Amino acid sequence: MTESALRALINDLTLEEKIGQLVQLPGYFQSEGAVTGPAGDMGLTQDDLRLAGSYLSIIGAEKIKKLQTAFMAQHPHHIPLLFMADIINGYRTVFPIPLAQACTFDPEGVEEGAAIAAKEAAAAGIHVTFSPMADLVRDARWGRVMESAGEDPYLNGCMAAAMVRGYQGKSLHDRGHIAACLKHFAGYGAPEGGRDYNNVELSERTLREDYLPAYQAAVEAGCEVVMTSFNTLNRIPSAANEWLVKEVLRREMGFTGMVISDWNALEELLAHGIAADQGEAAFLALRAGVDMDMTSPVYARNLKQLVESGKVPLAWVEDSAWRVLQLKNKLGLFEHPFKDADEEEERAVLLSPAHREAARKMAEKSFVLLKNEDHMLPLQPEEAAFIGPYVDHIYLNGAWSIFANDQDTVTVKAALANDPRTRNVPVAPGCPVHDADQPIMGFQQPVARDETDAEAALQEAVELARRSRKVVLCLGEHRECTGEAASRGELTLPKCQLRLLDAVTAVNENVIAVLFGGRPLDIRPLKEKTKAILVAWLPGTEGGPAVLRTLLGESHPSGRLSMCFPYCVGQMPIHYNHLSTGRPFHGDCHDGRFGSKYQDIPNEPLYPFGFGLTYTTFSYSPVVLSADRMKADETVTASVTVTNTGTCPGTETVQMYLRDISASVARPVRMLKAFVKISLNPGESREAAFTISEKMLRLYDLSMRYVSEPGTFDVFIGPDSQTMNKARLTLEEDSMAQEME
Ligand code: BGC
Repeated sequence: MTESALRALINDLTLEEKIGQLVQLPGYFQSEGAVTGPAGDMGLTQDDLRLAGSYLSIIGAEKIKKLQTAFMAQHPHHIPLLFMADIINGYRTVFPIPLAQACTFDPEGVEEGAAIAAKEAAAAGIHVTFSPMADLVRDARWGRVMESAGEDPYLNGCMAAAMVRGYQGKSLHDRGHIAACLKHFAGYGAPEGGRDYNNVELSERTLREDYLPAYQAAVEAGCEVVMTSFNTLNRIPSAANEWLVKEVLRREMGFTGMVISDWNALEELLAHGIAADQGEAAFLALRAGVDMDMTSPVYARNLKQLVESGKVPLAWVEDSAWRVLQLKNKLGLFEHPFKDADEEEERAVLLSPAHREAARKMAEKSFVLLKNEDHMLPLQPEEAAFIGPYVDHIYLNGAWSIFANDQDTVTVKAALANDPRTRNVPVAPGCPVHDADQPIMGFQQPVARDETDAEAALQEAVELARRSRKVVLCLGEHRECTGEAASRGELTLPKCQLRLLDAVTAVNENVIAVLFGGRPLDIRPLKEKTKAILVAWLPGTEGGPAVLRTLLGESHPSGRLSMCFPYCVGQMPIHYNHLSTGRPFHGDCHDGRFGSKYQDIPNEPLYPFGFGLTYTTFSYSPVVLSADRMKADETVTASVTVTNTGTCPGTETVQMYLRDISASVARPVRMLKAFVKISLNPGESREAAFTISEKMLRLYDLSMRYVSEPGTFDVFIGPDSQTMNKARLTLEEDSMAQEME
């Protein structure tokens, strides 16, 4: 539809119709014939349902086509519905959780994964996905770390932008592409105490420097929708934060698309204590610039009266409705209201062999090898017994894979059985997947108890371990222990699994742990007792084959931690890019009293950001700079030569970090600025070169201007965030401080 036709359409709508466009209803309302049940409980009328702008969580080409047809037929202006859903790491073919995807350090691969998810979801009738989540995270107690790209602003931005490109393609009109909804704006990843929905207090400098860049990268990649977060940010709930939405998101970042609230967040403004009633909540949210109300009755029930009484200007409603209609138009819904919904296409693409293969490859790239003593890995096919509750566990998708069928997941046991070389490998569960005294609440219902007989399973496992050369021990946290509303105060493995670890390692000294789960855990016992640790995260549909191929050396691990593994929960929040403090502490925790340290635990995590081993080894030459001084309008190339010094091929992730030695405000001890992956055969060397520009050296100065300051910088290039391989660069005095464009 042309812009003028769209204008004519909006001008012709009644106030009720305009307000309807701002309303998103939950899909389960559709199963009700009349307005009873939840819709009735919310005080919605048949008219509210008749005029709604969008539904979420309805899937399936046939269903959506039917619904769209019926809906448009009864809508006074036949405006199509927008169908949105949470396609987080795949639709039916499930890819690794986003935290694991970030461990690939492979934005192109992540883009391809998002494109596949979009293709499947589009065939099933979906128009918009609630992804990517670009919330920076530093506290593994927060269950939603699994949906993030981890603790680094730059890596987060690379991943968020890659996902947007993958979902949206070149044009939303194109077949197989859907709109991306960036979330949760802003700072949702920093809840106090790691407890979901809790308050967030961030200085403006920290917000801008660390938290906003990833959202900005997604906006720059062209994402069409932004979701506000549940939390308060410095005492103001995001859904009512005019500064955040209008000033930061729209004016500074240049976002022109639609803004949606999170689930029921507008009604929650009452619980936050900033709105006395729903009417006030509607006023505050619309004034802030929230265009669409996700699943609360606040807009539907209050805006008409507010506009008619003059409390809310009609222009606010019209501006928001315009953005909703524009999105529908960009998706081509006025001409093709079903967009790509197509039963035949669904049959062809969902879980297609090509999609499964892509999911497996991404899973393999996301695995992080933390330890590999005595060359435990790779394994010979029949060398090891496979023990542990995750050997035959089908729940390898993240908690958000709500449209996937867990029965489609290939477990490790199934992968062993599918390969003639490993068909006879003995397996045993060893223990239940979670402790009986720790019931887990799933999204909808409690997770069924694991009925494994703990004593019998343990005995069987010990016997098996005793007579095996090596043991692969598949442990982990249940997938429902991460994701939304799954914060934890302890980060240990379940007690039954720790007992299994003790028993198995007591009778076999060659134990390789494969760790599943959605967050970094306290894995000190694993580090102490096993010889190798492979972090497999929640790897998705093809998790089993990916794990087996990696253990057998058919695929070589190359993943790097996107979030550190803490020493223990007492370090939370922890991140590598912290400030130095006036009393930096480098020594042993028992040495001296007055450094910035804990008395009982180290400052350093167990495994740092960026860390990961391969089956080979690499050496790095010293860092070479093309010049050790630069002016603001110049660039410098920093390079190293990387050599594969081991005996098999491998892929190294070369990382460049910068440290500003002295500035007008305290700066992080280092910040990731670039990375590159290089694959080398044994004995082969290659140069990895990075361009340093003035833009990389900028900071928010004393007056909150985004500028570079002359001075010295350390340039680190190495395999992880703790590398000491560095050279010194000077930004010259005559450099002009540059305002951020
Ligand atoms: C979550 C969002 C999600 C939305 C819709 C909320 O509870 O916070 O991330 O997109 O539900 O399902």
